[in-house]
Amino acid sequence: AKITYVEHDGTEHVVDVKPGMSVMEGAIKNNIPGIDADCGGACACATCHVYVKQEWLDKTGSPSAMEESMLDFAENVEPNSRLSCQIKVSDELDGLVVTMPESQH
Ligand code: FES
Repeated sequence: AKITYVEHDGTEHVVDVKPGMSVMEGAIKNNIPGIDADCGGACACATCHVYVKQEWLDKTGSPSAMEESMLDFAENVEPNSRLSCQIKVSDELDGLVVTMPESQH
């Protein structure tokens, strides 16, 4: 699926991410700056925080209780905040756009 990662300064990275990988893994694999993922995807660090573009919120679903509690540790949390390691890429998400927060710039 084609995923667009937008850095805080507006720089866009469009990459193809294999279904089954997480949005975070897609960023790491393609050396996209702004997603640190210190915990390696265990939902335990909140350094993979992204904002999901409004029109995609239906498809990405809502965060789990564990993700919600980890998001409390992220900065500048918005209603469309997600931890990108908890979003699984599928063909459904082809065209997804996520933006990285200022704190990960
Ligand atoms: Fe650590 Fe997502 S990579 S919470």
